[in-house]
Amino acid sequence: MTQPENDVLKAAQDHLWLHFTRHSSHQQSEIPTIVRGEGSYVYDIHGKRYLDGLAGLFVVQAGHGRQELAEAAAKQAQELAFFPLWSYAHPKAAELAQRLAAYTPGELNRVFFTTGGGEAVESAWKLAKQYFKLVGKPLKHKVISRQIAYHGTPQGALSITGIPAFKEMFEPLVPGSIRVPNTNHYRADEITGVKGMNPEEYGFWAAERVARAIEMEGPDTVAAVFAEPVQNAGGCFPPAPGYFQRLREICDEYDVLLVSDEVICAFGRLGTMFGGQKFDYVPDIITCAKGLTSGYSPIGAMIAHERLFEPFKDGDTMFAHGYTFGGHPVSAAVALANLDIFEREDLLGHVTRNEPLFKETLDGLRDLPIVGDVRGSGYFWGIELVKDKTTKQTFDAEESERLLRGFLSKALYEAGLYCRADDRGDPVIQLAPPLIAGPEEFAEIGSILRDVLTQAWARL
Ligand SMILES: Cc1ncc(COP(=O)(O)O)c(C=O)c1O
Repeated sequence: MTQPENDVLKAAQDHLWLHFTRHSSHQQSEIPTIVRGEGSYVYDIHGKRYLDGLAGLFVVQAGHGRQELAEAAAKQAQELAFFPLWSYAHPKAAELAQRLAAYTPGELNRVFFTTGGGEAVESAWKLAKQYFKLVGKPLKHKVISRQIAYHGTPQGALSITGIPAFKEMFEPLVPGSIRVPNTNHYRADEITGVKGMNPEEYGFWAAERVARAIEMEGPDTVAAVFAEPVQNAGGCFPPAPGYFQRLREICDEYDVLLVSDEVICAFGRLGTMFGGQKFDYVPDIITCAKGLTSGYSPIGAMIAHERLFEPFKDGDTMFAHGYTFGGHPVSAAVALANLDIFEREDLLGHVTRNEPLFKETLDGLRDLPIVGDVRGSGYFWGIELVKDKTTKQTFDAEESERLLRGFLSKALYEAGLYCRADDRGDPVIQLAPPLIAGPEEFAEIGSILRDVLTQAWARL
């Protein structure tokens, strides 16, 4: 190893505070350090190549190493590096807002920029509260979200998050957030206590839980329902047919806003520009971030229905909310250049055309004794690992610890596949490669997974 490499690794060990990371796991080993990327691949500090099976963190849609995105950033930084959206506009934010509004379904025409996803979620809850105050329903402030769903780390977004283990050390969080079941059809028997519901029946049952929760809380107190098109945490739960249609009806019936949290599912992850378009529903608010710039610069957005903007149009009313770097000119310019790539290279069409092959590759692993379920949509898939396929028995805490943290994450990485072994719900491996990936990358993913999962089973 060269001295500069050593210096980087030591600086990381001595000074970086990693996110959602047990630092103890790196006491005896170096912190994996990625230095460059190209297409669907990244390279570590020692020059070893990895297939980026998670697009960074569901971010790098157009792939790594795109010179035109770097150039768009440089050009904008030279022209106007920074100006805030506080009472002023700049051309790239205006152009991006217009373009996003054109891509959204329905009348979601008003774009409030943030720097990331959690801020977009936070903004959506605050808007929902203020909107209802302005239209004479001041008690409406509560939100409903789904079990195990992750919605971000600011205290409001964390309050909406359905993962108790991420919340308990920060309690008390923002009050008024209520959980309902998610769309995990694989575990429908356990969740409902009823055997053998088909996906449609389960979807209807799960949507009805939202109506029951609204009634129990009191419709006059509930402002919004937050749901991802395909729920990430827990391992890619797509909605059953009809689920979002029923949820839309329920939200309309009780005058509750439907917030589609598309921080992962927007910008082609499912093969559509926005995730709701894949499942044919129109929310009142979309929250998005990650893939909007393919990660070449940070930005997020809350996109609201025109109706929600109405009460802010006149008089002395304002949304007293903002972020210094929200809608940063460099990020907005990069987002526009990124969306140009989407159109020029038909990334949405590419995902849609290749989704069946990606699914087939992962379904091909179902013969392994450890693979319980394979589920997902577009380029967004989860493989649930089980101890017993017939009973769907999952691993206990010790086995999960040994298998996921102790073996799988490291073994996959060492085999050249960067992806995620996650235990926020039942243990899953998550895959979400850059949207430029195709048959060759799928084959590589399939072969590494087969090898490593076979070893994992042998170790149990
Ligand atoms: C659905 C969803 N919402 C919100 C967030 C938070 O986004 P950020 O990390 O950009 O704050 C995430 C992050 O993964 C997410 O998946």
